[in-house]
Amino acid sequence: MKATATANANIALVKYWGKRSSDRILPQNGSISMTCDGMATKTTVEFSEQPEHTVMINDEEFKKDEKDIHGHIDRICRMAGIRKHAKVVSESNFPVAAGLASSASGFAALTVATCAAAGLKLSPRELSILTRQGSGSACRSIFGGFVEWHRGQRDDGSDSYAEEIKDKNHWPEFRMIATIVESKKKPVSSRGGMAQTVATCPYYKDWLATVDEDLKNMKEAIEERDFEKVGGIAEFNALKMHATMITTKPSIIYWIPATMEIIHAVRQMREEEIQAYFTMDAGPNVKVLCQERDVKEISMQLAELEGVANTILCKPGDGAKIVSEHLF
Ligand code: PMV
Repeated sequence: MKATATANANIALVKYWGKRSSDRILPQNGSISMTCDGMATKTTVEFSEQPEHTVMINDEEFKKDEKDIHGHIDRICRMAGIRKHAKVVSESNFPVAAGLASSASGFAALTVATCAAAGLKLSPRELSILTRQGSGSACRSIFGGFVEWHRGQRDDGSDSYAEEIKDKNHWPEFRMIATIVESKKKPVSSRGGMAQTVATCPYYKDWLATVDEDLKNMKEAIEERDFEKVGGIAEFNALKMHATMITTKPSIIYWIPATMEIIHAVRQMREEEIQAYFTMDAGPNVKVLCQERDVKEISMQLAELEGVANTILCKPGDGAKIVSEHLF
């Protein structure tokens, strides 16, 4: 009744933005990501007779927020027919509060460890469907390398799952440098932000109308290991998503001056024939896509920017897995 799992964060190259069902966390559009080696969460779960679930994340007791960890554990207990309660201890090797994709690695590791501790044997596809119901983009972290999350059509969500496009060995030179910028203000959550976008953005349907083409081209570009094509699609896709965020009511502007500083620096690098592209999620941090051969030069240039507090270097990583060493 005790198990430990690790999972990596993932970064979307074609973004998920907007739900068609908030109960089951069903997306309005499909998405594609890279699972990031270097941004991992490890989670141990043990079921016992204790009176309620307890959750410790990075040495702090988890306080309930809109991402319902307790509800997710209950969901798994119901599936397994278990009446016991879980002790959960979780640790990430990257700053959780920095606005990186901590809920993706967190929910993927939690789901895999909880299912194993509950004796529930699920296929990777079933695990991704279950993880999706805890936190949407987390369903992609079940798999390694390059991953597609299918939108699906059904109301019950049984066809909205993630799937590996190519494993991590397909493109070992691919890199993502996550910059962490100084930011005092807590951004609007992805959950709140996307709900507001679907409800009020006059261009939301135009965003949706372009995503299938991005998915198709991105899959081809990954298949062909065409870096400029991947970077170009990813950058423009992120800008389109942010255009919908900015044009909601009230407007959601995740960018701060440091965000713009990095965007312009990346564009300048391309002027100098350095292949670098940017992408951004629901926060001010910028992720720079590049290849191994340019990492040194790009990291040096990023370090010189005033607003960059820190960077994390990632390459394509593994999917979620069970490990033998427990956290308690
Ligand atoms: O799954 P959530 O609620 O963390 O939303 C993720 C939204 C984006 O990071 C902006 C895009 C994505 O596909 O990861």
